[in-house]
Amino acid sequence: MTCRLGVNIDHVATVRNARGGGHPDPLEAARVAIAAGADGITLHLREDRRHIRDDDLQRIASGIDAPVNLEMAATSEMADIAAALHPHACCIVPERRTEVTTEGGLDAAGGMQTLAPIVARLSAAGIRVSLFIDADAAQIKAAATMRAAVVELHTGAYAHHPGEELQRLRDGARLADSLGLEVHAGHGLTFDNVGPVAAIPEIRELNIGHFLIGEAILHGLPHVVRHMKGLIAAARS
Ligand code: PXP
Repeated sequence: MTCRLGVNIDHVATVRNARGGGHPDPLEAARVAIAAGADGITLHLREDRRHIRDDDLQRIASGIDAPVNLEMAATSEMADIAAALHPHACCIVPERRTEVTTEGGLDAAGGMQTLAPIVARLSAAGIRVSLFIDADAAQIKAAATMRAAVVELHTGAYAHHPGEELQRLRDGARLADSLGLEVHAGHGLTFDNVGPVAAIPEIRELNIGHFLIGEAILHGLPHVVRHMKGLIAAARS
């Protein structure tokens, strides 16, 4: 089975917001990424709106012909926004105002009381719900108990310590797949470290943002998306 690439365009909005105008436009970046072979677009509406803003959501959801994956915190405000937008998928992530990026996975096992109603509400609306968790058996089992459709395994620790963490991702992907969960992965992936993760057969989608957008400044978004797709395909074959 192939492994899809979701391109996270948050940091196009970061650059745009630095000057307060409309350029560069995350919608245009989404269109360019799709034209270059991205299988979907991921965007994170943070509570503080530091990059993607509310008006971006509708423009991107209606402006591209590809699946949109909305990353969001488990709050009732975000659940209302997601229910109104009705993206293809929602990935529920932990969020702390002071963090630079999403630093670790959700505590799905400890947070079921908050998470389960949101998973149930969005799933009932026909949205594929994903939980962004560490590759930890207790977290994976909690996601299955809540009947999430997908788990996205946090690859941040792998990006820092690939030798120690790869086996944990492999084991987590196998467990999640055996429990009927679709398996995605992401965070901190680059040209240099994507191969071993893309080679894990149960992983069906990788969501990659910061590296691709940074590299696009140097080499152009179409080129970097095509190159990342090629690396993923090569790892798979
Ligand atoms: N997946 C999830 C759930 C994320 O929160 C992020 C970061 O926004 C990513 C993937 C992409 O991480 P990176 O920007 O490091 O590629």
